[in-house]
Amino acid sequence: MGDDVGGARILVLADPDTLANQAAAAVAEELQVSIRARKRALFVLAGGSTPRGVYERLASAGAAAPWWSAVEFLFGDERCVPPDDEASNYRMVRESLLDPLGIAAERVHRIRGELAPAEAAAAYERELVELMGSETPQLDLLLLGLGEDGHTASLFPGSTSLEETTRWVVASRSPVAPHDRVTLTLALLGRARRVFFLATGRAKAAAVGAVLGSTSPQDLPATRVRALEGKPTWWLDRAAAANL
Ligand code: 6PG
Repeated sequence: MGDDVGGARILVLADPDTLANQAAAAVAEELQVSIRARKRALFVLAGGSTPRGVYERLASAGAAAPWWSAVEFLFGDERCVPPDDEASNYRMVRESLLDPLGIAAERVHRIRGELAPAEAAAAYERELVELMGSETPQLDLLLLGLGEDGHTASLFPGSTSLEETTRWVVASRSPVAPHDRVTLTLALLGRARRVFFLATGRAKAAAVGAVLGSTSPQDLPATRVRALEGKPTWWLDRAAAANL
């Protein structure tokens, strides 16, 4: 299933529900592949609204699965708001996945959005170094969304954070509120065995076409994320794939 176009593997599903069901199954499989190989899986969660359906299906299908105890939960970015704020990516993930699965707090690595952005970024980087060491970090499965401007995580077009090659976590600014963000940089986003992008809806069709266009993909943040193993997989519904 799916086509390889340039630097991506593209899977187009009929609608968001079908996508959520199939992407959840693929997430569960990839996490177990890593656990079999490395005894654990570092799972980087996407924020925004698109992934919620995938998280809900993972929670409902996997509640009894013992392998979840080998998964460490990380975040690709966070809005600089308290963890119980309705804009918090952590809150969305806690409600849709972590609480239903009963994930132990010590395996959830939350970006502390309640801190000042630079302080939160530095603290998260220290936590990731403690988790992975400082030399050759390896993430196992990275989920990412896509903004209508081609941003991913909280790496926005034209941002200096896109040029960061050393630090793994930086503060960034979003053109839409909440403006203060903390985001993983391409230095770390490029260290995932597998990368899954999720995009649904007509509003994303132009950005998807710009990033995946077979003729001349634009140099947008989402275009610059590579996977260690294979190509990034793009999970799209028909509406988001309309320009391909
Ligand atoms: C965030 C996300 C961001 C998101 C895209 C798409 O914190 O908002 O990290 O990159 O994935 O903006 O958001 P939607 O899924 O809400 O369309």
